[in-house]
Amino acid sequence: MQRNSLILEDRPINHSLSLTDSHSLPEEDKSVLQIWGGNPLHGHVKISGAKNSALAIMAGAILCPDDCRLRNVPSLVDVARMSQILAALGLKIERNGDTLDIDARHLQQSQAPYELVSQLRASFFVIGPVLARLGAARVPLPGGCAIGARPVDLHVRGLQAMGAEVHIDHGMVHAYVPGRNPKLKGAKIYLDYPSVGATETLMMAATLAEGETTLENAAQEPEVVDLANFCRAMGARIRGAGTNTIVISGVPNLHSVDYPIIPDRIEAGTFLVAGAITHSEITISPVVPDHLTAVIAKLQDIGAKVIAEEPNCLRLVPGRLRATDIETLPYPGFPTDMQAPFMALLTKSEGDSVITETVFENRLGHVAELNRMGADIRVKGKHALIRGVSMLSGAPVVATDLRASAALVIAALAADGKTTIQRLHHLDRGYYDLEGKLRQLGAKIERVQDKTDAGVEADQTLTAPSQILTPPQMQS
Ligand code: EPZ
Repeated sequence: MQRNSLILEDRPINHSLSLTDSHSLPEEDKSVLQIWGGNPLHGHVKISGAKNSALAIMAGAILCPDDCRLRNVPSLVDVARMSQILAALGLKIERNGDTLDIDARHLQQSQAPYELVSQLRASFFVIGPVLARLGAARVPLPGGCAIGARPVDLHVRGLQAMGAEVHIDHGMVHAYVPGRNPKLKGAKIYLDYPSVGATETLMMAATLAEGETTLENAAQEPEVVDLANFCRAMGARIRGAGTNTIVISGVPNLHSVDYPIIPDRIEAGTFLVAGAITHSEITISPVVPDHLTAVIAKLQDIGAKVIAEEPNCLRLVPGRLRATDIETLPYPGFPTDMQAPFMALLTKSEGDSVITETVFENRLGHVAELNRMGADIRVKGKHALIRGVSMLSGAPVVATDLRASAALVIAALAADGKTTIQRLHHLDRGYYDLEGKLRQLGAKIERVQDKTDAGVEADQTLTAPSQILTPPQMQS
């Protein structure tokens, strides 16, 4: 699925943003993770709020001409970036712990600097709410990323169907609603692909439109439902979120709200996989088990047990790992964001597994690094054939994207000896204090200053280093 990407001027951010430490973006992180494998995990780990919900809901706060309070917001680089982008649009943002107060009273149609937007694709989702509130918006084209070209044609076509004039000029998407009353109009929109982002952008745009909008072949992800629930709590009229047909009846205005973000199902899945590959019994909460149906089914398929202890708590009971085949699909299918972590698990399962990545065209970047650790994976187009091995060995490896970095951490937990993982800025985008949470479960894992230029030729014989650093954004 793919077609285009582009570039842009930037302009000074007019900071109406009161950022505490945890919001400021860290310098290029020169630290590396060192993991000594073979240690069983035990105990309980707390799951943070969902990154992909928080980002969409932060964009959704633009719809409200008042302030909103979001709770359970994870402290992540991506959340800090979205805060800066909202500030560039004139919003006031205040963070206290995992609570975020967003005041969108003074929204102005300005543009966020390219360097911020290019690093956070989700920032493109603001085009829907800005257009809905102001009748005009200019947002940079986000461009592609490591996992694919990631076009936004479905977003643009949907906005055009709602009466917006949209054109792309010098890498900037200019959208406006012609006429004296620049309000979007309800429309019937069929999405060629159940895109999460396009569903979210158009659902937000339709909340303030005149008339009714129907989104067909819509995405059904839990994050889409969480955004719909947030908008409904502000007074929006939305039916069918979580199904492939969403109907939105536009309303004149929305009001302020206090809203808790759902737990992160991908972080939860990552810990379940870490438990399975280290043959460890662990519990995780809060989680919504229904959000993990496909992942739990595959874990049970390969021999682990996943038990729902309390309504929002899961226990992973390890088992002998067998092979299985996986095809990534839109929800409720197997999530593409769990593909890399699960591939790491299957490298240690008995037999041959085939993983087929159907959602993104370039999301097998972790294969070469897993093979560096002794895995046996061959790639043919969008298929990866994983032949289970009895042992992985620690090695210097490089993270290529967010979920690939989680896969390397998981493989390292089960590997013999020490692994060094470089380029942690990928990991910090989507996991809050992963190494702290794993250390709490008994893993031998440290984030240390990268002493070598290449960073990865770290001396294999090194014992646990003396100087230990915590990542900048954890210091909030
Ligand atoms: C969201 O990305 C998530 N990001 C991704 O999580 C996740 O992998 C993805 O959904 C799929 O589940 C956020 O929510 C911030 P899509 P999004 O639009 O919305 C094509 C992570 O690791 N497409 O559903 O960008 C597109 O190229 C991240 O946390 C078009 O062709 O995903 C892709 O192949 C990575 N035209 C497919 O659809 C469009 O206009 C799915 O993309 C839009 C998308």
